[in-house]
Amino acid sequence: MATADLASTRRTWDSAPRDLRAAFATAECGQAFSEFHQHLFESLGSRRDLLEGLASAAGDSANAYEDTEVIMIMAITSLRDYTGARLGALCRAVGFPGSNDEPIRLLHELLGPMGARPLLEPPQWESDVADDKTPIEFSVAFDENGSPTIRILVEPVAAQPSHRANMELSKQLLHSLSDRFGFSLDQFHAVSDLFLPEEPQGKFAFWYSLVLRPNGPPAFKLYFNPEIRGHCRAPRLVQEGFDRLGFRDAYDTVVKHGGRREHHLDRFSFFSIDLHQRVHPRVKVYLSHHAAEAASVEWAAQATDGVKPGQVEQFCRLAGGGTGPFTRRPLISSFAFVEGDTDRPSGYTVYLPVRDYVTDDEAARARAIALMRQHDLDPAVLDRALNAVARRSLAEGVGLIPHLSLRLGRSRPGITIYLSVEAYEVAPPRASALAS
Ligand code: TRP
Repeated sequence: MATADLASTRRTWDSAPRDLRAAFATAECGQAFSEFHQHLFESLGSRRDLLEGLASAAGDSANAYEDTEVIMIMAITSLRDYTGARLGALCRAVGFPGSNDEPIRLLHELLGPMGARPLLEPPQWESDVADDKTPIEFSVAFDENGSPTIRILVEPVAAQPSHRANMELSKQLLHSLSDRFGFSLDQFHAVSDLFLPEEPQGKFAFWYSLVLRPNGPPAFKLYFNPEIRGHCRAPRLVQEGFDRLGFRDAYDTVVKHGGRREHHLDRFSFFSIDLHQRVHPRVKVYLSHHAAEAASVEWAAQATDGVKPGQVEQFCRLAGGGTGPFTRRPLISSFAFVEGDTDRPSGYTVYLPVRDYVTDDEAARARAIALMRQHDLDPAVLDRALNAVARRSLAEGVGLIPHLSLRLGRSRPGITIYLSVEAYEVAPPRASALAS
């Protein structure tokens, strides 16, 4: 604009009638004015170049600004606010009544003091709940009539985290929850000295699962670590745990079907109890099958009555892209025993760590959708759930869908899709999916 103004003044001057100019200025005056004019013109011109340069730099930094904004949000958002917001969105996505904020309050409580830390601060505790150390993981379980249940796996983390401190925090939470929700602690007391020793070892000591149904009270499960006294003592611990809870023949069945391979390829990974008002809740034991083929889990599933041959293998093909061997993270089996079961479990579940057998989450989603279609479930629910939890596009990483699982047997058969919160990190897509 300044340039245009000056140019037009100059033009007016240059084109003015001769005697008007003569009358206006002497030759020196004209010369001086012309020099001044030229100087002003150049200096405004260079200022204009400078401003243009600044404008284009501002344009370039628009993207940088967006990145900065994400960092600023992470600096002021706590882990509990972030995961609480994601949980609220997930509840809405799967059609839970919108007004209930009890799930979010319970999640806050279960997270413990670590929940107050901003996302930008690195996690103080390397939780094994999720790959990026976020101490929570969501899952959406569908049963045969399609109605979803939301579950949240949580590791409560103390202010000064350690196995012991986290364990103490989890115990306090347990007592306060049992008072409020009226569930019995008999089962917990029956096995707690086995699984909660003075000197805990291994990846974790005590995890919770919070189970939410659209129109019912929340339920809870506890996960113990069979390797808490070291890998070698895990089988004894599991056997003793089953004995104390009244399932004397369970251990032999589980080992016969799930633990037959040599060299510690089948390892006990979790021992879990449900917390209910009922006196005899459910007990579940989990085995990870390292480098296993689908045939191993196919046989494991036969521990349960009424499992159709080929069902588990077909699940491995759909969810895992083949029949193995699955040499990255292991396939996992769980065997569920409820009151009345003697030697055979009434439920079997196979878990496939799908994130290890795909290149990115587009591919993981495609596997999950294939599974949903096979079970006559509407895949739109999954897309809504992914939108609620993710803050990135599916092709940008791998791990948003960490596991897919298939539940068989009498108790609520169906499939479950796990969802990572990725509060701390996103794993980049990988180059190849590893043929399996
Ligand atoms: N992150 C661990 C794993 O992937 C533990 C775990 C979290 C897990 N959620 C799970 C194991 C669901 C099996 C199924 O092994």
